Amino acid sequence: MIESATTLHERTKHAPGEEDIEEIHLELITNVKRAILTTESQQYELVSKVGEGSFGEVWLAREVSSKKSVAVKLLTLVSREFLNTLRSEWQILTTCQKLTDGVVRILDSNFESTPQFYVMEYCSRGSLAKYLDRLTLKQAVKIISEVAKTLSILHDHDIYHLDLKPNNILISKSGKPKLADFGLLSICLKRGLTLTLTPRYAAPELFKEIRISYAADVYSLGLILAESLGIPPGKAREGYVAKAKHLPYRLRSLIQRMLDSNPEKIPRADEVADELKNILYEIKEKKSPDDLSILLLTLEEEYRNIIKKLNKGPLTMADLKRAKMIYLKAKSLLDKVSGRKVL
Ligand SMILES: Nc1ncnc2c1ncn2[C@@H]1O[C@H](COP(=O)(O)OP(=O)(O)O)[C@@H](O)[C@H]1O
Ligand SMILES: [Mg+2]
Repeated sequence: MIESATTLHERTKHAPGEEDIEEIHLELITNVKRAILTTESQQYELVSKVGEGSFGEVWLAREVSSKKSVAVKLLTLVSREFLNTLRSEWQILTTCQKLTDGVVRILDSNFESTPQFYVMEYCSRGSLAKYLDRLTLKQAVKIISEVAKTLSILHDHDIYHLDLKPNNILISKSGKPKLADFGLLSICLKRGLTLTLTPRYAAPELFKEIRISYAADVYSLGLILAESLGIPPGKAREGYVAKAKHLPYRLRSLIQRMLDSNPEKIPRADEVADELKNILYEIKEKKSPDDLSILLLTLEEEYRNIIKKLNKGPLTMADLKRAKMIYLKAKSLLDKVSGRKVL
């Protein structure tokens, strides 16, 4: 399926079914007041909204029978055409989770209700977007190498994401990155349906023609990797990575290959995963400070600041709260390190 971006945009603007969307919205409000959603086998109680995207809203919910936390995606911002496609291709999405645990598990769905919705595992640490500006080199490389591994497994089965962005990389309770919305866009494109791309992270060829290929996913992942190392996507697209001399050479050259303007030269996801693993190994050898020592440094700085203030005059309520938080953080750090070998 090949279509020019302009046609795509125009068709999206005047997409049939916009009236349907409004109608679904009205009914949604009624439903949300009741705050209970039902499927063939379960009931889900909506707890709080966690986000909103191009398909609708995402809510933290509780499975009524087990009290387990889940995430519910209410499909309110899509046309009936999209919903019909999704329903008929649902199998593809559920196949993803059988292949790897690197995608968000889909647990349940109801395509008969209004609004239509599906239920997923809840990733309590939220999306990668919120951690982008505070990852260490090691953490960034580790997360992206795990995502590349997941991509390689799905690409081997001809399943592509096409909307990779930090918001679609969720972090599970155990810290594992999990891909959300896998295949939604490619399912629709295969059926000739139109959907908007996320321009900040989309591969350049997608702006000219929509072609389903592994290269588009690897390109987006290259942008996310660069961003998690402090280089915004706009700069990364302009080749700024080559100038970031503080990054290991091997990592810079991999990112540049991932961002090649010729999709045919872009490495496959399994190659990216392997190379990132090797790079990770080298970073480890340089003995970068581990997470605990970084936490210790931050605590020390915060402690000094409070002491400085204390010496100057009376503390405010906010200062006291801050001091209490430092105390609690330090206590939990001590719990973590007690029993560890000390140099
Ligand atoms: N399974 C999930 N568990 C926890 N949070 C989620 C889950 N799915 C989505 N979210 C949160 O909801 C937000 C909106 O998701 P979504 O509707 O897919 O839009 P987008 O991916 O465009 O941000 C995401 O950015 C993410 O923070
Ligand atoms: Mg999403």
